[in-house]
Amino acid sequence: MGTEKKYKVFVSRQIPETGLDVLRQKCEVEIYPGEQAIPRHLLLEKVKDAEGLLCLLSEKVDRELFAHAPKLRVVSNCAVGYDNIDVEHATRIGVAVTNTPGVLTDATADLSWTLLLAAARRLIEGDHIMRHNKFTGWSPLFLLGQDIKGKTLGILGAGRIGTAVVERSVGWQMPVLYFDRRPNPYLEKTFAARKVELNELIQQSDFISIHLPLAAETHHLINEKVLSQMKKSAIIVNTSRGAIIDENALVKALENKQIAGAGLDVFENEPAMAAGLEKLFNAVVIPHIGSATIHTRGEMTRIAAKNLLNVLEGDPPEFAVNPEVLKKHFNK
Ligand code: GLV
Repeated sequence: MGTEKKYKVFVSRQIPETGLDVLRQKCEVEIYPGEQAIPRHLLLEKVKDAEGLLCLLSEKVDRELFAHAPKLRVVSNCAVGYDNIDVEHATRIGVAVTNTPGVLTDATADLSWTLLLAAARRLIEGDHIMRHNKFTGWSPLFLLGQDIKGKTLGILGAGRIGTAVVERSVGWQMPVLYFDRRPNPYLEKTFAARKVELNELIQQSDFISIHLPLAAETHHLINEKVLSQMKKSAIIVNTSRGAIIDENALVKALENKQIAGAGLDVFENEPAMAAGLEKLFNAVVIPHIGSATIHTRGEMTRIAAKNLLNVLEGDPPEFAVNPEVLKKHFNK
């Protein structure tokens, strides 16, 4: 046989060909061709006959969507985070959910350091000055930033990406604190990292980098009160999910110079960012590009496609968010 297309799959945005090639071998694939997120009403219409949905973090996969998709067996998120999906409901109704961890760890950790360094050395201000022809010559008091070597690095969320951020800190010889539910023996043994409570990390760290998933317990974990406990020289970096920080409170803290700076790749209400951030030069703001390298995005889509196909074929996917569904419904 070979060419018979067995499964109906909807892909919610144009993705790299690596992923599409995998799907096309066995599926009838429909792709939303737009460059922006698919309008909600269209998404609800398109999932009507789909057995598989390959989607992005911009698609809300909630009860309403599941109700429109009676044939759906798998939602393959092309992202490591899956706070856009109601996993509990998916599990209840027997829909498998998969994601793409691992492959984007290095790209995201690199970007966290890019933001940290850019905020510490006031890169955006410097760039703005040059582009606006405002550089009047070297000056001893001009654009002074923060040193990094020997400063304390605080990691919120010591999973894959948090760990990779610590690995990259070696050259700067930073004492490392981390906050996580689970201990990370590798970080403790190799980097003498100390697992601490949130308030100790917040009060002691010079650089704080967020790598937690967004969930009810982490929503606005960094709020007005927590920001007020940080060092005045502190810089906070977020490449995980925007809503972990109360963005309006952060704007106030940056405006009042309560902390020295922020590096943000993610925002609470993407694609918007909180009013005021655009005027703040002590904030480095970039548009959610943590995993945006050519290789990483290609691999993410290949893995997302493979995950989806595996579930449809009754095989265990490489990355299952709710493996209990596979056991119960597919006997795997
Ligand atoms: C990106 O933010 C991801 O979760 O993969």
